[in-house]
Amino acid sequence: MKTLVFATANKHKLIEVQGLLGEGFALYCLADLQITEEIPETSGTLEGNALQKAMYVYEHTGKACFADDTGLEIDALNGNPGVYSARYAGPEKDSQANMRKVLAEMQGVENRAARFRTVIAYIDDDGQSHLFEGKVEGEILLQPVGDEGFGYDPIFRPAGYTESFAQLSLEAKNKISHRGRAMQAFCQYLGEQ
Ligand code: IMP
Repeated sequence: MKTLVFATANKHKLIEVQGLLGEGFALYCLADLQITEEIPETSGTLEGNALQKAMYVYEHTGKACFADDTGLEIDALNGNPGVYSARYAGPEKDSQANMRKVLAEMQGVENRAARFRTVIAYIDDDGQSHLFEGKVEGEILLQPVGDEGFGYDPIFRPAGYTESFAQLSLEAKNKISHRGRAMQAFCQYLGEQ
């Protein structure tokens, strides 16, 4: 069985990824390795942050490790909130405040094209890095709709859908989501090794 560390404190993500990877992989999260400090994310890109997190854990544990980083990229805002998505309206990481800030900046803006993008960085047993990406294109709604999901889900409508992400079931969202697609690419790679 192959041992892998997922550099996340989010148990929900861990369970989701264990389901995708199957029984050939023993997956550990940060708490399993007694890593409780906040890992620095000081790069200006999703790729840089994901690599920084995965490398931090690899250097501290010597184990193969992967990390993800996600951003909402809005064309009319020059790709913002992007790498700043979690803290767009301030350090409290308040989703409601983040959405209010985006909607205020998008007031009267016609081009509402946006995408969620997830980058996964994987550091293998030999310390080599590999990057995987998943995207979902869509647009920013005029106001929040729906109660499911988290983050910016109520103001994002995926292309080809009439509902916002917050109106889709978790299962329906995972099939087309940025994170689901990035994880699928990563899991396919692991399965081929
Ligand atoms: P993280 O890299 O997964 O922690 O995501 C960074 C931020 O992007 C989160 O704090 C959310 O604000 C936003 N975000 C990430 N994934 C999603 C999603 O699936 N729906 C809505 N917002 C998301």
